[in-house]
Amino acid sequence: MLACRPVHRLWQDESVTTRIRPISVAAADIVAILHADIFSGHHDECWSREFLGKILSTPGTTAFVALDNEVEEESPIGFAVIRISGEEGEVLSLGVTATMRRRGVGGALLKNVLRFAAEVGTTSMVLEVAENNTPARELYRQHGFVVVGRRRDYFRHGNARIDAIILRASTPPVT
Ligand SMILES: CC(C)(COP(=O)(O)OP(=O)(O)OC[C@H]1O[C@@H](n2cnc3c(N)ncnc32)[C@H](O)[C@@H]1OP(=O)(O)O)[C@@H](O)C(=O)NCCC(=O)NCCS
Repeated sequence: MLACRPVHRLWQDESVTTRIRPISVAAADIVAILHADIFSGHHDECWSREFLGKILSTPGTTAFVALDNEVEEESPIGFAVIRISGEEGEVLSLGVTATMRRRGVGGALLKNVLRFAAEVGTTSMVLEVAENNTPARELYRQHGFVVVGRRRDYFRHGNARIDAIILRASTPPVT
């Protein structure tokens, strides 16, 4: 069973030898492990398996994993969790394992998320990103996200407080 609307197809992005696929609530473990690995030491809190299970069970929520095509066994290297609510959706979390960054995996995930959102009738996606997260902000900028707001002191990193920048992008036309 898929977490949200069923999507019985795999998306493939030839340019990055990555395949992106939606996963079920039962596979929350995979995302929990990826999340803990990717966000350890980050301002973002780690999402436990239980927490992720709850998130993925919420109507409108879907998780995607990126798998490395060059590895024979299924090897998750990135993930995205989104929530769709009518015409607007939200990217709740997105990340790529450190050793696989800067190879287009994050871009492939984001592209597929935007395409998925468009296909289910969502016209725009929003997200929050830490003001000082240059790699993510640059990734989002490349995919059409623009600044629409700011939440002061939203993230905590040790004693420091970091503003969240709110970004929004239109979903692509469905072809
Ligand atoms: C942000 C993140 C998902 C990007 O994933 P990625 O697979 O490295 O992204 P891509 O390879 O698709 O990069 C796409 C573009 O993003 C930008 N980018 C990515 N990493 C960057 C970096 N370290 N510095 C500057 N720009 C960067 C570049 O413009 C890049 O395009 P280019 O390689 O052609 O210059 C990854 O760095 C990550 O998981 N970070 C930790 C988790 C996180 O911050 N998630 C976002 C929370 S909102």
